[in-house]
Amino acid sequence: MLFMPGSMKFSLFQGLFEKSSASYFLLCALLSFVCIIRYRRRHYYKVASKLKGPTQWPFLGAGKLHTNKVSDLHDYHFYFRSLGERMAQSFYADKFFIFCLDAGPINYVFNKVLRKSDIYRIVENLFRNGVLGFSPVEKWRADRKMIAPSFHYSVVKTYICIFFEETNILVDKFRPLMEKGESFYPGTLLNLATFDMVIRSTLGENPKAQEFNDHPVVKAMMDILHSVQKRLTNPFLMFNNVCKLIGMNKAENELQEVIRGYSRNIVRQIAASNTSDNTMSFARHMMTNNIDEEDLVTQIINVIFAGTDTTKTANFAVLLMLALHPEVQDKAYEEVVSILGTDKTKEPSYEDLQNMRYVEMIIKESLRLYPPVPLVARQIITDNERYEDLDLPRGASMVVNIYTVHRDSTYYPEPNKFDPDRFLPGEAAKRPVGSYVPFLVGPRDCLGKKYAMLQMKTVASTILRNYRILPSPTCANMEQVVLEMVTTSRFADNCQIRLEERES
Ligand code: HEM
Repeated sequence: MLFMPGSMKFSLFQGLFEKSSASYFLLCALLSFVCIIRYRRRHYYKVASKLKGPTQWPFLGAGKLHTNKVSDLHDYHFYFRSLGERMAQSFYADKFFIFCLDAGPINYVFNKVLRKSDIYRIVENLFRNGVLGFSPVEKWRADRKMIAPSFHYSVVKTYICIFFEETNILVDKFRPLMEKGESFYPGTLLNLATFDMVIRSTLGENPKAQEFNDHPVVKAMMDILHSVQKRLTNPFLMFNNVCKLIGMNKAENELQEVIRGYSRNIVRQIAASNTSDNTMSFARHMMTNNIDEEDLVTQIINVIFAGTDTTKTANFAVLLMLALHPEVQDKAYEEVVSILGTDKTKEPSYEDLQNMRYVEMIIKESLRLYPPVPLVARQIITDNERYEDLDLPRGASMVVNIYTVHRDSTYYPEPNKFDPDRFLPGEAAKRPVGSYVPFLVGPRDCLGKKYAMLQMKTVASTILRNYRILPSPTCANMEQVVLEMVTTSRFADNCQIRLEERES
């Protein structure tokens, strides 16, 4: 190439010109893109203008609300309460959220909006098209119809012996910690116990996670919850393609294969054996529907996820509340002894558990203050949906802030106070449906709520029969109880208890 100073000047000038025209072009393309997006989302903006919401950035949304800067659920709730509204809005990534903060809209959503929000796509790898997942309403309806009989009380009451056995193992696991006299975080051991209970009742197999202090499926489940939380709190990770690009999908697939492989193996063993016992597992019940193996494994994984982490947090909440409220604990202990007597080895019957009315009120109040699932989201999938005078645009996600409605002073005076008497039958009936929804309400409520109640009553009564639960210096009052969000709720590490043997 010939070197010519004149042409160099020209090419420099040309380069600059080309650069600026490229920048100009890029700017125009960006502006057009923003205009197209805004035009396509005009229905959302119209609704957003009628609702209060946080100050937010395009795409990044209201950083503080959506990123893990707010991992303390109480801060999150405090923000929404401060709006003083029944509904609120925000944008995040490509999504538009309408938050339901009051019993009225919550009841509407749970009864009329049955499709899960597409935000659940981030757990699609795991739940696939199972009952908890993001499948179309018709598919979910069919699944629910097939699974529901396995959750009938006549089935779940046969699991009480499993709950009792596993809680007694937990009591033994607690003993060395009690003997040291130190405070400890009960979440890890509770997680192993609820995992053993759920696996034994869903698959009829004892994984003995408590005995071995660990299990690869428990670890995979925890890792998945953390990975999902990472996705929820980073708008870029809301897109599956981005996750594929950075290898996150692959890592999640490996984790879910640990759970799937484990469940598949057991399902095959069950199919190969003809034996049946009087504690028939969910899997065996579901097999009576001639369900395809992979579908069965999917549904089983959905149930395992739905049942383990939730009951861990719920039982944790009950223990903490008993520790912080000795007068309530004494009353609960009296009730348990009046029903079961002082022989700690006596297994409670279904009727015994039904008669534990005060323990039930304690559980309900604990679930009010510390709901294991603090937020759920459904999606508007048809046109012309309205709630009162508000248009609900197709594609909007309706988020139900369970934590927020549970601390609404309209329904719960002194909402942060723990008071089981709020659940005296007459008191509970005064509140509107939608003001108490730890298990949701409506056609898509929790299928495992009877199971959960029997399990929690067995756990609480068995621990009470063995130990007096005491507060720890790191969590000596209600203000120090911190519930964080890791996909579902999780108590912070300072939430510890101490135990003292009960001499009976
Ligand atoms: C205290 C314990 C529990 C709480 C607070 C709880 C709460 C919930 C909530 C909030 C949902 C709706 C989730 C959503 O829409 O995203 C749900 C669904 C579900 N839960 Fe539970 N749950 C508990 C225990 C259990 C247990 C022990 C099982 C099973 C052994 C279970 C099985 C299910 C199933 C199968 C669904 C899906 C229902 C459907 O979509 O039709 N849950 N649960």
